[in-house]
Amino acid sequence: MISLLLSLKSRRSVKGMRAVKERPKVARGRVEGEEMIRTYVEGFDEILGGGIPRGHVVLVSGLPGTMKTSLVYSFLYHNSLKEGRNSLYMTLEQGRKSLEHQMARMGFRVKDVAGKLHVLDVATLQKRTQEDEDAPWIEFLQRAIEFRKELGVVDLIAIDSLEALEVLASFQDRRRDLFRLFDWFRGQEATSFLITEAPPEPSLSVLLHAHGNEADYLADGIVHLKMHQVSDVDIQRRIRAVKMRAAHHKTGFYALVFEDGAFSVTQAMSGPL
Ligand SMILES: Nc1ncnc2c1ncn2[C@@H]1O[C@H](COP(=O)(O)OP(=O)(O)OP(=O)(O)O)[C@@H](O)[C@H]1O
Ligand SMILES: [Mg+2]
Repeated sequence: MISLLLSLKSRRSVKGMRAVKERPKVARGRVEGEEMIRTYVEGFDEILGGGIPRGHVVLVSGLPGTMKTSLVYSFLYHNSLKEGRNSLYMTLEQGRKSLEHQMARMGFRVKDVAGKLHVLDVATLQKRTQEDEDAPWIEFLQRAIEFRKELGVVDLIAIDSLEALEVLASFQDRRRDLFRLFDWFRGQEATSFLITEAPPEPSLSVLLHAHGNEADYLADGIVHLKMHQVSDVDIQRRIRAVKMRAAHHKTGFYALVFEDGAFSVTQAMSGPL
């Protein structure tokens, strides 16, 4: 049963900081007995060293059109379909019907995961959100989880996107609120995916994010998506596990292919930068 007594835990930001700092880090290799969440992207679970350690908070970053939404939906879809896991996809940038229509067009059989994969959109969330000057985003997310408490356990949660959440949930102090947000996600005991925009090149990160990108440091894992020019006319989708705590993963770029309603990764062909 998912804990709904979140507010006390999440409002203790100082204690929360300590909790995160004391979190044991495992340098390499899989921790014995640790449950791994498979992505069901052919070839990618091997690259991750078996999957994503359960309970991780993972950023999925990329520029517009790099298939962040489709990929994360695919993670949740296959976990619900093949393992019966309960999933919650919070779409803050598009409505539920629009998202489900887009996914159905891509070949995901949305009806097959009815009752397992739940999509919540802004309209639904806002109706259930009350003003809370202290931490409005906590209230926002808490109500989303409460809304689905009949699920019993939520195994996978997706937020699409972190930037939209920051705006809708009125972040006051980005650094502090991000810290508390990550702490809140860890307290959910679910595996979480936060979709986020990314600068075109990592080297521009410092210039584009006035405070640096705190979320990159707070996340347990980062999966990055990009378009890569392989010739004058060809662009290839690429994926890279930038970091994944407690996993012995490969760090290079791989080609990301979406065909016949399924994602797969293959060795990337080298080409111009
Ligand atoms: N059936 C399909 N097969 C392969 N690629 C597709 C298919 N349908 C859509 N796409 C590609 O997926 C892209 C959109 O994917 P998605 O919405 O997941 O990207 P995104 O990174 O979430 O975008 P945004 O930043 O706008 O939210 C389209 O631009 C298109 O290139
Ligand atoms: Mg998207």
